[in-house]
Amino acid sequence: MERELAAFGARHLRGDEHVVGNFSSGGTESIILAVKAARDYHREKRPDVTCPEMILPTTAHAAFHKAAHYLDIKVVPVAVDPQSFKVRADDVRQAITANTIMMVGSAPSYAQGVIDPIAELGDLALEKDVWLHTDACMGGFLLPYFKRLGEPVPDFDFSVPGVSSISMDLHKYAYSPKGASLVLYRHKDLRRHQIFACSSWIGYTIINNAVQSSKSGGPMAAAWAVLNYLGDEGYLEIARRKLAAVKKIAAGIEAIDGIRLLAQPQMSLVAYTSDTVNVFHIIDEMNALGWYIQPALSFDNSPAHIHLSINASNVGWEEDLLKDLEECVRIAATLPEGDLVKMVRGALEQIDLENVSDEDIKGLLAMAGIDAGGLPDRMADINGVLDALPPKAREKILTSFVNDLFVQ
Ligand SMILES: Cc1ncc(COP(=O)(O)O)c(C=O)c1O
Repeated sequence: MERELAAFGARHLRGDEHVVGNFSSGGTESIILAVKAARDYHREKRPDVTCPEMILPTTAHAAFHKAAHYLDIKVVPVAVDPQSFKVRADDVRQAITANTIMMVGSAPSYAQGVIDPIAELGDLALEKDVWLHTDACMGGFLLPYFKRLGEPVPDFDFSVPGVSSISMDLHKYAYSPKGASLVLYRHKDLRRHQIFACSSWIGYTIINNAVQSSKSGGPMAAAWAVLNYLGDEGYLEIARRKLAAVKKIAAGIEAIDGIRLLAQPQMSLVAYTSDTVNVFHIIDEMNALGWYIQPALSFDNSPAHIHLSINASNVGWEEDLLKDLEECVRIAATLPEGDLVKMVRGALEQIDLENVSDEDIKGLLAMAGIDAGGLPDRMADINGVLDALPPKAREKILTSFVNDLFVQ
């Protein structure tokens, strides 16, 4: 089954007969594996590089930061274009050093749903002899269908000669149950570095091609079954309906006073914001009506915004969504910024955020009405406070919160 799934992935992403791949538990695991493969490939090829660097557009998924953290690789961030939210190949070029082992482009990025210029990055990768990974966790499966439906999908897959590896999730738009992803490599010599073998202990010899060792075959069998059950025509039909829904929703958002799209969606992820209304209030209002829409905090040149991932099950609800959204924007515009944000902002000025202790954090959380029991229904104030914090402080506070959540 794993071989069949990998062969499907290679064909779907226009690889030749040399492309190989493996099944993993999700996008994050596929990404960790590709980063490990790139690191170990360069360790062998360029042993002089002792502090490997990975160039990450600010839109690259957090899983790359996790991989860098686990595998001790330095992240070199590159800001994306403030209008298109795509990385510019020239900016990546400027970030390349003698220690660069890997660069990354997304197809599409999670946040704004836009596709990085993979062909240009591929040229750069070949010129500089650097590993290029396309993160197609979100789009690898769906974008080829959108292309068949006539959408102008730029090349992002193995048709781009400089692409070394691709991650493509099955548990997103292939509708497999969670725990299903593929990581693919241009040829076996690259994939070899993903594999871990250990015979240096008293016991059975381990040869793993993934992070997990003992693992369930369930998700793989389920993915194989779903793929075969829905089939090519089934997925094309789902894609057709989804594409129509995305277009309707994007046009509808543009027509609502007070909100605007951050970028034209190139797949099914839609990001929008407001220059006049607190987006966190809009989210609370929408969620109170039973919608589930996701907040995204501001980072670098991307403002706080609202994220929608349009799915097959959302098709048919577009008009209800837009009607409620318009009303929620109107209501949110009448709501004041909470006292909490002002109070906590004041308290924050007294705290050294670099060295904030767990006790300080507990105090802040208590002030925000949060205890280990969970979160309040209305999150606008809390999101407002998090948004006002530097990202490192957000990470510290959330780590402390989750550490307290999972206790007896
Ligand atoms: C572009 C992208 N890459 C990677 C991931 C990580 O995937 P997972 O949540 O399956 O680990 C996601 C998740 O949404 C994603 O959108």
